Amino acid sequence: MTIHIGAKEGDIAETVLLPGDPYRAKWAADAFLDNARLVNEVRGMLGFTGTWRGNPVTIHGSGMGMPSLSIYATELIRDYGVQTLIRIGSCGGMQDGVKVRDVILAMTASSLSTPSRGIFKEFQFAPCADYGLLRAAADAAKTKGVSTHVGGIYSSDTFYDERPDLNEQMMRHGILGVEMEAAELYTLAARYGRRALAVLTVSDHLITGEALPSDQREKSFGDMVEIALEAAFA
Ligand code: HPA
Repeated sequence: MTIHIGAKEGDIAETVLLPGDPYRAKWAADAFLDNARLVNEVRGMLGFTGTWRGNPVTIHGSGMGMPSLSIYATELIRDYGVQTLIRIGSCGGMQDGVKVRDVILAMTASSLSTPSRGIFKEFQFAPCADYGLLRAAADAAKTKGVSTHVGGIYSSDTFYDERPDLNEQMMRHGILGVEMEAAELYTLAARYGRRALAVLTVSDHLITGEALPSDQREKSFGDMVEIALEAAFA
């Protein structure tokens, strides 16, 4: 048990999928894992452990934003020995060629700041994905025929953004999409020598204003879960 996770030692698998939404963790565990059981519900942040093709997997909510994800990822790594952490979530598209429903595999995650910012002082650390996971996820997405982009994303501290000028510069520099967690996940994985990746579905678009209707979110979310699981055990 940790401050924020009630699971007993051994209740958490070495591979953890991290959706932001705890109810998405339940949905994914019910849909994709065998013998899934609830291992955490502290503060309603649900976590489930089961198996996928015989491999132990935990699917655990991260909450929204880097401070929340940082708490769960740190405890999963330090206290439960988690080796592979894959965020599965949504993002806003930031390029014309990136369409709603497409999947983005975040090779890098830029940010204005992360909870780890303080330790770097003047140093600009470049958070990046684990190459083996990234490559395996790209292969899995191709096999499934999912329209996929691999490149840099932006991890923001705000959903309701007030910096159109900054978004413009990011779009100009090829940033594919915006979400709110990956940069801290990648930084923690680097610090502790673990593998991390963010697999993201484009749920809305900053240029076109289009948004994925809620009845279609489930299918896209399922594709992401499968890509993440295939990548973790490739
Ligand atoms: N901004 C930040 N995070 C997001 C967005 C967005 O537009 N869409 C999905 N996650």
